[in-house]
Amino acid sequence: MADYRRVEIAPSILAADFSRLGEEIKNVEPEVKILHIDVMDGHYVPNITIGVPVIQSIRKITPLVFDVHLMVVDPVPFVIPFSEAGSDIITLHVETLEDPDAGIDLIHSLGKRAGLSVHPDTPVEALFPYLSKLDTVLVMSVRPGFGGQKFMPEALERVSRIHRELLRIDGRALISVDGGITAGNAGSIVEAGASVLVVGSSIFGTDDPRKSVAELKKCVT
Ligand code: DX5
Ligand code: ZN
Repeated sequence: MADYRRVEIAPSILAADFSRLGEEIKNVEPEVKILHIDVMDGHYVPNITIGVPVIQSIRKITPLVFDVHLMVVDPVPFVIPFSEAGSDIITLHVETLEDPDAGIDLIHSLGKRAGLSVHPDTPVEALFPYLSKLDTVLVMSVRPGFGGQKFMPEALERVSRIHRELLRIDGRALISVDGGITAGNAGSIVEAGASVLVVGSSIFGTDDPRKSVAELKKCVT
């Protein structure tokens, strides 16, 4: 079973009001350690979101750990620009990499934490050859591309399989889960082995985002 004391809620700014992005971040800052930032290119996923300039701007206003989730067809050329913009964790999709080891090594060579993400259509075993060198694994629990979707329950078993493999190899990667997380399902996701919950709509889509984070934290402690 996961260690509940270590569970983090990582707000996904995709669901924030971009006209007040700094304010939205400062509002949740006291409750969290990690901010999740979705970068989409309109090719790997059918949506376009945030790029380097936005990350550079928000880097100036918060000390939070930035987990930058790159949903782009050819992410490796973007690792250095996103690193320089102020990312702390850079997460690449395993499906987008010809040589995942090279991507992970590049991120580590820049002094950043490396993550691999897995699309719901990809067997989680695709991550296993790289688990021992990863800092984080990001399990998608919706089809990547949009916030506000419904959690796919099959993600629970997928998280458990990764969790068991990490225990078997004594890996140190944290398991993050991304998409459709609410106060109603957060507990079961942690029970399956997750220690970081990425949450967009159930935080920034509510009237009181800071209170919503606090309520989510209560569900997992
Ligand atoms: C989806 C993104 C998620 C998304 C989560 O492609 O990777 O981070 O913003 O948002 P909610 O919590 O609304 O599903
Ligand atoms: Zn994401």
